[in-house]
Amino acid sequence: MKTLIKNGTVVTATDLYKGDVLVEDEKIAVIGTSLDMHADTIIDAGGKYVLPGGIDVHTHLDMPFGGATSADDFESGTTAAAFGGTTSIVDFAIQYKGQTLHHAWESWMKKAEGKAVVDYGFHMIMTDMNDQVEQEMDALVRQGVTSFKLFMAYRGVFMLDDGSIFRALLRTGQNGGMICMHAENGDVIDVLVRRALAQGHTAPKFHALTRPARAEAEATHRAIALAEIADVPIYIVHLSAAEALEMVTEARDRGLHAYAETCPQYLFLSYDNYEEPDFGGSKYVMSPPLRDAAKRDELWRGLAFNDLQCVSTDHCPFCMKEKRLGENDFSKIPNGAPGIETRMSLVYDGGVRPGRISLNRFVELTSTSPAKIFGLFPRKGTIAPGSDADIVVFDPRRTITLAAKTLHMKVDYNPYEGRQVTGATDTVLSRGRLVIENGRFVGRAGGGSFLKRATRS
Ligand code: URP
Ligand code: ZN
Ligand code: ZN
Repeated sequence: MKTLIKNGTVVTATDLYKGDVLVEDEKIAVIGTSLDMHADTIIDAGGKYVLPGGIDVHTHLDMPFGGATSADDFESGTTAAAFGGTTSIVDFAIQYKGQTLHHAWESWMKKAEGKAVVDYGFHMIMTDMNDQVEQEMDALVRQGVTSFKLFMAYRGVFMLDDGSIFRALLRTGQNGGMICMHAENGDVIDVLVRRALAQGHTAPKFHALTRPARAEAEATHRAIALAEIADVPIYIVHLSAAEALEMVTEARDRGLHAYAETCPQYLFLSYDNYEEPDFGGSKYVMSPPLRDAAKRDELWRGLAFNDLQCVSTDHCPFCMKEKRLGENDFSKIPNGAPGIETRMSLVYDGGVRPGRISLNRFVELTSTSPAKIFGLFPRKGTIAPGSDADIVVFDPRRTITLAAKTLHMKVDYNPYEGRQVTGATDTVLSRGRLVIENGRFVGRAGGGSFLKRATRS
């Protein structure tokens, strides 16, 4: 089975050139100019970019959380991902207290098998730490689940103490895995939440007002310090506060292997969204929360200068019915928002078009760096002979209007409702198979495979 993508502009993290790409079965076979070879399918990419498929290393599909379950399962979530130009995701399996990591991994594999439209891997959220869990971490790493998310917040649910965090960090030093940290000072936040509720402050905006930027910065600093003592790399997830970014920048300037991602919501939305009337602020209840609009430029600067390495989505959608669980108490609003489908267009429109980041950097942030950090490169994350044929034909001139009704995520609102963005995905190949053809879904549930990821080299 051969597919020839002709006349496009191939963009990788380092290159930009006019070229044709021949795909043979699941792989990229040949790249050249004016390729004149037989193919079963020919795609004309004239005037379009030919990009490596997007890699979203932070999604929560079919995830129970806060008395609800995230609205997208692996079929709808990965379908929406494909529509938006993302061809690989790394989702979070959860080890609930008392369970083995293996049990958690098996449960999440069952959720994905036969459903995922594009390829998927897993990080493991660990909520318990003991001798057995340490050994299980090694086994998981061997099976390709090479990263572990730990929480410094949500005491009694997800949170681990510093000693447990330190043990996990040390273990990754031996097994080649990576710790991904949810960095917020949970105990301080819990005090602020209790005080706000006691004062009768129940509205969604108090979610943000009780999670100050300094609580994120303090935890980010502590997480990096623990990783420094353990002498291992660390990856900070969903960084939202400029104050937390300062901690990452300072560590990187000292030569530490501190990595961090941010998400489109922190680049395009702000605290002001919490002021939306009629409980509208609940749409943006996520942790960490949205921050002051004036600080967003610092995140863009971090992306441009490589203090932030990835843009992922933290896609964790809940419908308004679920959000209303917290109608009388902001602390009961399920945390999370949709984003898996809109990431590439938003970052292109808000990043590349105004000149905040280059086109190469756009590819690096949305595909190449996540692939490198999470053990998928060079199989994923670039356009090169031998790499998986995960390819996006992206139209830099097409303008779309973001709206819950026309997007494919199974959630009844969109945080960017009505926003126009220029730059949209036309056609998508996942390991050589067409999944989106000129904006039409032609993929199949179960077409995606489990990604056994490599350890750090
Ligand atoms: O609010 C968020 N971020 N929900 C998803 C869970 C997490 O902490 O990533
Ligand atoms: Zn988190
Ligand atoms: Zn998350």
